[in-house]
Amino acid sequence: MRKKVTVVGSGNVGATAAHWIASKELADVVLIDIVEGVPQGKGLDLLEAMPIEKRDSHIMGTQDYADTANSDIVVITAGIPRKPGMSRDDLLNTNHKIMKDVVGKAVQYSPNCILIIVSNPLDAMAQAAYKMSGFPRERVIGMAGVLDSSRFRAFISEELKVSVENVTAFVLGGHGDTMVPLPRYSTVAGIPITELMDAATVARLVQRTRDGGAEIVKYLKTGSAYYAPSAAVAEMVEAILKDKKKILPCAAYLEGEYGIKGLYVGVPVKLGSKGIEQIIQIKLTPEEKAALDKSAEAVKELVAVIGV
Ligand code: LAC
Repeated sequence: MRKKVTVVGSGNVGATAAHWIASKELADVVLIDIVEGVPQGKGLDLLEAMPIEKRDSHIMGTQDYADTANSDIVVITAGIPRKPGMSRDDLLNTNHKIMKDVVGKAVQYSPNCILIIVSNPLDAMAQAAYKMSGFPRERVIGMAGVLDSSRFRAFISEELKVSVENVTAFVLGGHGDTMVPLPRYSTVAGIPITELMDAATVARLVQRTRDGGAEIVKYLKTGSAYYAPSAAVAEMVEAILKDKKKILPCAAYLEGEYGIKGLYVGVPVKLGSKGIEQIIQIKLTPEEKAALDKSAEAVKELVAVIGV
């Protein structure tokens, strides 16, 4: 039987996630949104592209959660994006309200699904969804580390003029200004980038990664990034549906790992058919640990405001 992925929210991130998922033939896709007609129109448009792409993915749009029943994965992108000058945290209360509306309905129809949370502020929204769903932590995963590390990889690849395929990068912590790119664990064909660039260059790329979302918002003015965020979603969906056991940085509910308890923070995890199958703990230097703790504090402040 074909796999089924529901994408909640048919804005730029949701629709582009549907595009990547369908064009990689990972699953049939249901796009759902409160806005009438938009998920139907975008879904049908994508469906009509499949013969050209030679992909047998079925795509549909709907307002009715009954159509999402028995999804293997539900990706939640619903919410407002930021405008120039806004931080992801400014979206907290509005997106929490939207999250309250959609999580209950999604899990009612797909009680065994894996939830991938994309709405911002990412870590706090993942925590809210985790609490609302009643799911085990393995099945509620926040997207962000894959996006942030892909941005870091793109910048490293551009700087050194090497193939993106040679570049791996690690980013820990919350998806916000305090995220923690780890140059030591970021490599080109296995060589740490700290061996290939001077410290000032590394620092510049680290800062550009931290500001990666804001850089796009500044250009677009009316919204935020969506190609890379949705590509990150598709990579996570693929790892889960194909049971790849892929190590990816994702937001996970920590229960003591990295000395953090009861909080969603970005860490390396193993993604397979059960969702988060392992949280990988790596040794951090005192500076890296301090940066991760600072990032976790920023997430803690947000979850305290919404009481999750
Ligand atoms: C970004 C937003 C989507 O990082 O969080 O682009």
